[in-house]
Amino acid sequence: MENYEVLPPSPGKHNMENYDEYCKNFTWENVEKEFSWNTTGKVNIAYEAIDRWVDEKGKGNAPAILYSDAEKEVTVTFADLKAQSAKFANVLTKLGIKKGDRVFLFIPRSPEMLISFAGIVKAGCIAGPLFEAFMEEAVKDRLTDSEAVAIVTTAGQKSRIKKDEVPSLKHVIVIGDQESNLAPYEISYEKVMAEASADFTPVWLTKDDPMFLLYTSGSTGKPKGVLHSHEIMVGMYHTMRISQDVQDDDVFWCTADPGWITGVSYSVWGPWLVGKATIIRGGRFSADDWYQTLEKYGVTVWYSAPTAFRMLAAAGDEAVKKYKLKLRHITSVGEPLNPEVIMWALRVFNVRIHETFFMTETGVNMICCYPSEPIKVGSMFKPIPGVEAAITDDEGKVLPPMQMGNLSLKKGWPGMMKEIWKNPAKYNEYFEHDPWYVSGDQAYMDEDGYIWFQGRNDDVIKTAGERVGPFEVESKLVEHPAVAEAGVIGKPDEVRGNIIKAFIALAPGYTWSEELGEELKKFVKTGLAAHAAPREIEVRDKLPKTRSGKIMRRVLKAQEMGLPIGDLSTMDD
Ligand code: WTA
Repeated sequence: MENYEVLPPSPGKHNMENYDEYCKNFTWENVEKEFSWNTTGKVNIAYEAIDRWVDEKGKGNAPAILYSDAEKEVTVTFADLKAQSAKFANVLTKLGIKKGDRVFLFIPRSPEMLISFAGIVKAGCIAGPLFEAFMEEAVKDRLTDSEAVAIVTTAGQKSRIKKDEVPSLKHVIVIGDQESNLAPYEISYEKVMAEASADFTPVWLTKDDPMFLLYTSGSTGKPKGVLHSHEIMVGMYHTMRISQDVQDDDVFWCTADPGWITGVSYSVWGPWLVGKATIIRGGRFSADDWYQTLEKYGVTVWYSAPTAFRMLAAAGDEAVKKYKLKLRHITSVGEPLNPEVIMWALRVFNVRIHETFFMTETGVNMICCYPSEPIKVGSMFKPIPGVEAAITDDEGKVLPPMQMGNLSLKKGWPGMMKEIWKNPAKYNEYFEHDPWYVSGDQAYMDEDGYIWFQGRNDDVIKTAGERVGPFEVESKLVEHPAVAEAGVIGKPDEVRGNIIKAFIALAPGYTWSEELGEELKKFVKTGLAAHAAPREIEVRDKLPKTRSGKIMRRVLKAQEMGLPIGDLSTMDD
């Protein structure tokens, strides 16, 4: 197990200079002192992240959003953001939308996405960010489960929202559409924003009141709604300072889409909470585009993901050379960071990449490498100050060092999910071994307390850092008349971590062809989402099943990887 390189700490000053010392003196109460609600008792993250910079700190003219794409550049100051989000909060209020109502966002990365997100939260409503690539069914499932009353979208995306099929949905607010294209229930964003007042006092809440609902996949069933409260601001602020190590002079760029947790916590709210602009780059990925973005804004702390780094590395070391970059360090999330990538960053940028591990459910960074500490390449180091981690066995007993088990976190940090939407049983599953939150990941801890990630212990697939539930893909595939059965696994891939591979058995009367394969991929892509579509499909006469008829994904996976198949006592014939 132990054969790794050690990298010395990053040079320079850091917000945390010594992990052990910092942990000794750490209390969450001290972090809470940074917020005005600590003295006023009036809680709303939109106030702490936006209005406060204008009202109390004289930072109204500082940029809050720096948006750019191939065609345009937009800067939104904190004063603008305060006014625009107030307008949007007024728009919602005027529609009769109240505290606690679910208002979804289905908008590509843009200033409007962030402005409406902020307005929803300011009005005390629960925001439901949706990844822009979702197709009809994925959108409908989420709106239906959450009983959303309104959704904000764009002219380009709105056709994927089937209002008639979601009984709770009353309003569709559309950005960038002509008045003449709007259905009676559709509202022009530009029109209502122009009419709205820019005065709005945030709806005051308690820190346990919900802020956003983000759907995420497990190994079974449809995606579940992970509910986060305003208290997550404490965790966001703390990790912006400690795991991201963002300081006064830094320029921070998180490349994650606001439709996922990393985007919500670190592309949107985290930067605002520390008074920084969020940098949003629209359009498609290319190595040149990203390097230009790093150079253009003078990014010093860059938060991205291993698949992106591997795609950049594939563009060659030369591709970086023409850019003048100011990086101080890089942070990484979402999937295991392989040592080659860490070495690539050292070679081409001369900075370290710091692993940060967390989940939609944990809300904020949990186990991280920090600038002040050495890196054992391949390890995630230790939990953030304020959080305790352990490796537990299947009964919840804490395991000694060097034994592989369940990566678990002691519950109760600010930012931990509050609920699984309308599904307390599912929520309780995470806490069967109270006080441990069991992550679903496997890891071991070495003698020095460093944590080494070993992979998921369920069937959840991480492809290009995105979390995909096999069940959703299987359900979509069997909707196609040619497919009798489907089993979906993650197949290791050098660039994407995993690709989605589907095994299918054909329905009677169908024969396999390349064309049918392409048709099935397209069927998932257009019905569910591009990132959830299988890249490989293999036909079998029948799929391995348990006697009760459940497809045994682990058997498919073992066969695919040429590994021992394990216990087959529950398998049918
Ligand atoms: C995986 C993403 C290895 C893990 C923020 C976790 C990681 C799942 C890391 C959550 C990391 C996240 N190294 N694996 N640094 N960070 N993961 O909810 O399997 O989309 O359980 O949140 O991503 O995925 P989610």
